[in-house]
Amino acid sequence: MCGIVGHVGAEKATPILLDGLRRLEYRGYDSAGLAVHASDGIEIVRAVGKLRNLEKALSEKGLLGTVGIGHTRWATHGRPSEVNAHPHIAGPIAVVHNGIIENHLELRAELEASGFTIASDTDTEIIAHLIHRETQAGHDMVTAIRHSLGHVEGAYAIAVLSEREPNRIVVAKSASPLVIGVSNGATYCASDIPALLPYTNEMVFLEDSEIAVLEAEGFTLTKLDGTPVSRRSRKISWSPVMAEKDGYKHFMLKEIFEQPRALEDTLRGRLDRENADIFTPEIGLSEDDAKRIDRVILLACGTSHHATIAGRYWLEELAKVPAITELASEFRGRDAVVGEGDLVIAVSQSGETIDTLMAAKEAKERGAKVLAIANVNGSAIPRMADASFYTHAGPEIGVASTKCFMTQLANLLMFSIWLGRRRGTIDDAQAAELVEGLARIPHVIAERLRETHLMVTDIVRDFSEARDVLFLGRGLSFPMALEGALKLKEISYVHAEGYAAGEMKHGPIALLDAHVPVVVLMPQDRHYDRVSSNMQEARAREAKIIGVTTAGDTQAQSLCDRFVEVAPTHEALSPFVTVVPLQLYAYCVADHKGTDVDQPRNLAKTVTVE
Ligand code: AGP
Repeated sequence: MCGIVGHVGAEKATPILLDGLRRLEYRGYDSAGLAVHASDGIEIVRAVGKLRNLEKALSEKGLLGTVGIGHTRWATHGRPSEVNAHPHIAGPIAVVHNGIIENHLELRAELEASGFTIASDTDTEIIAHLIHRETQAGHDMVTAIRHSLGHVEGAYAIAVLSEREPNRIVVAKSASPLVIGVSNGATYCASDIPALLPYTNEMVFLEDSEIAVLEAEGFTLTKLDGTPVSRRSRKISWSPVMAEKDGYKHFMLKEIFEQPRALEDTLRGRLDRENADIFTPEIGLSEDDAKRIDRVILLACGTSHHATIAGRYWLEELAKVPAITELASEFRGRDAVVGEGDLVIAVSQSGETIDTLMAAKEAKERGAKVLAIANVNGSAIPRMADASFYTHAGPEIGVASTKCFMTQLANLLMFSIWLGRRRGTIDDAQAAELVEGLARIPHVIAERLRETHLMVTDIVRDFSEARDVLFLGRGLSFPMALEGALKLKEISYVHAEGYAAGEMKHGPIALLDAHVPVVVLMPQDRHYDRVSSNMQEARAREAKIIGVTTAGDTQAQSLCDRFVEVAPTHEALSPFVTVVPLQLYAYCVADHKGTDVDQPRNLAKTVTVE
């Protein structure tokens, strides 16, 4: 949550910082601000609301320097207001921060007792005053920051300016992400890669308890205790165009349409069609390791959690390995039973979600092996994991995850096939069918995307005013029902619930009447007849049925008020096709209502607070 960006070089900083903030706005968008070194000190402009308000404020008061920092905020401490917006200033020091300082109340009391006046309600301003206090004692910026961070507990990525050292930015981090970008004559920092893509592909990821001094000619990196660190930059293969809307009305719609490409990129080089197997040297498990796994624990949050439920079903069915899914936030701190013999798969688009990161760390400390499935190369979860099996969806900008979810499904299915092959629980024919099916899936989705969009747009005209919507599915369609409901809630603010279809009669059926649309996922799988009965039960309560049916399934379609057709697939592959109309349903309702699809209220793309 919150995005920070910095630039030091010969170019004017303001346009670069604003451009970076625009690419980071998905991380938080309730206020924003810039601080730039001017000829006579640091100048700051801040504004409440979206970035356009900051741009407006800057058009009235230009900032001309070439060294500066910027911030886009997702409020944690203190409501969105100009005084609470970053950068925060104390004496010669300006600070932007992403994270949460847990002992801020204690530090605030201490600073106030020694005569410092704290203007905002934020935890960040405390950091600015701590650094200021250290500079008053005669320390340079790096030493002052080192000493100050010694008092701080919690998560932070900070970028700091000092009026006394106008040619540099100092950055440091613990738990929150920070990447440094290097190019000829300029150095940058940001919370995430897309902010820097127009300027450089050469990036260095800061580790916890590291501090870096950024200057136009490059950077120096040390541990907080002063130990020098040498780290080479990595070349990031994402292009800036991948983070543009490309003619689509919203990033979310673009990303839904990018799913076939994202899947192709994720499957590329991993499907061994000749041997009906999966080629995944990166997962870091030997053939023997695969046989020795006693249990798989899948950890994730939100949409990624829904992918793990499908992953669990695949692992049990194909690899015959006991598997459980856990919400990462619930796994932590409850003394869950985990240890050697457990393989933990931590799934996260951003690779930075703090709950998932901390839960996986806890499991690793207790002896489990951790495999990360993440989309952002070099992010925190892959860095702490024993091995990483990346998805290759490209940058996902819309807050509502779509293409990353799709590629998480692909990796989880590939891993299940790989494990099943090693454990001898799937035979050649079964594996060949799955591998061939997976290879075709990008094409199968692409073929129907436009038509599905049209069908869903038409259906939504009749249902966009519904206040509650239920999504039902069994087996692999159950996590897709959960995902459909989450998508709708997130971006259209309509109350929606996903249920296992068999659970309806145990309570939720009481909610049904003629005003409640029920989206029923009914691919032609082993659950078809039972789901059909559940649908009839809903119809009998006058609920309106929107079916997600296999193309040509006139029997199911005759029972629906409206239906969308999906391509017939192997039943293990059904989630790849059934989730697409649900994503489009949420998108079309939100677009019809005119909500802010890519930046829904109260949310942020990367959740780095607990
Ligand atoms: C997805 O639409 C959501 N914005 C959210 O639930 C997300 O999936 C969750 O915060 C986990 O994020 P991660 O995959 O980056 O860990």
